[in-house]
Amino acid sequence: MTRAEITAILIADQFPSYRTLKQHICKLLENRNLWDHVPLLVFEAPELARMIQPGQFVLVRDPSTFDPYLRQTAWLYRVEGDRLSLVLSSGNSLSGRVSPGHLLDLLGPVGRTAEFVKSARHVLLIGEDEQIAPLVAMAHAALESLERSVVLLNRSRQAAGAETEPLPAYLLSPEIEYRVVPTTQSLPEILGPDLIAWADQIVASGGAELYAAVGQAVRTARFRLEPGWVHVLMDLPMPCGVGTCYACAVGTAHGPKLACVDGPWFDWVDLERQNRGWSRWVR
Ligand code: FES
Repeated sequence: MTRAEITAILIADQFPSYRTLKQHICKLLENRNLWDHVPLLVFEAPELARMIQPGQFVLVRDPSTFDPYLRQTAWLYRVEGDRLSLVLSSGNSLSGRVSPGHLLDLLGPVGRTAEFVKSARHVLLIGEDEQIAPLVAMAHAALESLERSVVLLNRSRQAAGAETEPLPAYLLSPEIEYRVVPTTQSLPEILGPDLIAWADQIVASGGAELYAAVGQAVRTARFRLEPGWVHVLMDLPMPCGVGTCYACAVGTAHGPKLACVDGPWFDWVDLERQNRGWSRWVR
């Protein structure tokens, strides 16, 4: 048994959501950009493909190091049979060090998914730049298995060096209403009262400014921000990814939580109530 497998078993005792966490040695089938500079790795990973859920991620060990930790976060993009497609952060250099045919060490699935409320029929997903990628699998899951109406917004931060080409529409099912927000539009304009009133649930993946604007827009349109109504991604560096280093600790209304074990999707109410200046945790 490897050290990573022993660690996974110990953690599963402490955190029930980790009972499916396992080490997988998988063959890399494709290494290309999904769009712009967003790298996509496609693996033959039958067991992992069966277990992973939209919103979860996998930790990929860099084969150029001997360190079993300090792995790279790769988000679920798509499952097609035994083929597992994962997206790396824009500019992640791991894709430059691996080639099709390589066997890579994957640890996963990691993290909890953002669960949709059963009664929610209209789902609004908002992603910024390349951080929209984890929302693609969620959008398709909400549409296909749960038969919900889905609107996916893509916003660019316009920060120097951070701007990415928008996710191309052809990567999405035509039933998903996809809107690329012009860079001239402000967040209050984008998150108008009609859109917020339409949504039964919101999931956002981006930066502090976006999350604050979503909270404000919900309060303006619906007077109150209810628990479970807005989930946000805490996309933090996860050096160990298995709940042992505490580098990804997040203050919440229920005490400190770990993004790798308890998240990375959090109820925005829990974060906002607890934290002042929490924006240091998100890009
Ligand atoms: S990354 Fe180490 S505890 Fe979360």
